[in-house]
Amino acid sequence: MKTKVAILNEQSLDKNIILEAAEIIKRGGVVAFPTETVYGLGANALDEEAVKKIFIAKGRPQDNPLIIHVGDFNISPYVKEVPKVAKEIMNKFWPGPITLIFEKSDKVPMITSANLSTIGVRMPDNNIARELILAANTTIAAPSANISGRPSPTDVDSCIEDLSGKIDYILGGENSEVGLESTIVDCTVNPICILRPGAITLEMLKEIDENVYVDPAVLNKPTEDFKPKAPGMKYRHYAPKAPVKIVSGDIEKTIAKINEIVLNYIERGKRVGVIATDETKNSYNSDIVVSLGSRENLYEIGQNLFKVLRSFDTMDVDIILCEAFNEQGVGAAIMNRLKKSAGFDIIEA
Ligand code: TXA
Ligand code: MG
Repeated sequence: MKTKVAILNEQSLDKNIILEAAEIIKRGGVVAFPTETVYGLGANALDEEAVKKIFIAKGRPQDNPLIIHVGDFNISPYVKEVPKVAKEIMNKFWPGPITLIFEKSDKVPMITSANLSTIGVRMPDNNIARELILAANTTIAAPSANISGRPSPTDVDSCIEDLSGKIDYILGGENSEVGLESTIVDCTVNPICILRPGAITLEMLKEIDENVYVDPAVLNKPTEDFKPKAPGMKYRHYAPKAPVKIVSGDIEKTIAKINEIVLNYIERGKRVGVIATDETKNSYNSDIVVSLGSRENLYEIGQNLFKVLRSFDTMDVDIILCEAFNEQGVGAAIMNRLKKSAGFDIIEA
């Protein structure tokens, strides 16, 4: 399949390109598009055949449900009811990096929700995404636009790398500002529950519902027979080709521990990559050190995380060692993604 790529400027949108991409969605095709969290792989969420193509292009397991994306606040055609707490979250954080789970209406086919009776809904904070959804005159189902298991794409080049030749169209825009997928909140339960941490943090949601809590599945390594509420949480994820190990603890001890492991590998003729920060990048004895940004700015770390994980695939390393971060605020989302990319391989410094 030939994949058309068109790059747009979010500030001065070329309407003809949006209409061309929307036409593909209307005809049951698949379009990758930018959002503020990560790039999405979109198709008409109400068209079974179109949704099937998303699963095939990504190589996504059939039991992993998709999120639907809306261009305005009118979600009533897709959900049974909108609880009061969900309305408050929508008013405060939409458009933005937060997905809410509702009981779904019959209009949303079972393939989209992977046979669940619920559906995740999000209004992205990105002009290209919203204009595309509105022009397609539907709701767009979109997982992250990566091959299943790989780090999510935060720029157009990563989408092209994973999906060129597999889908109809790639709409490019700026790099994703947040860089981590949306927070997912189950609004079908009381109190509401965070199924995936993101840029809208537990602390921020507590201002709306003080009883909100994080699903234990987010924090622990999944076991064989484990059935998390967000099915995607059980799969290996965000993984570069080389294995990742996280080294956790006081920063001075972390540096010493990473250097000890680096030496050990180098002595055995292995190539070691280190994921560091601006404050620590000159402290390592490996010559393959990449900084995620400043420890003072966790938003910058989140923005760069997936791109940095992907970058090791072209550096031919045998192992990747990564510093850990404080799990407060957006740090919870960063550590959730890192732990999954490391298959929960964490070494105490
Ligand atoms: O930021 C995002 O959410 C991005 C952009 C493109 O919007 N999308 C995204 O989709 O991350 P995806 O498919 O890569 O991740 C969706 C996650 C999966 O872990 C899935 O299992 C979970 O959401 N999920 C979807 N529907 C659900 C439901 N009804 N109940 C529980 N979990 C659900
Ligand atoms: Mg994904």
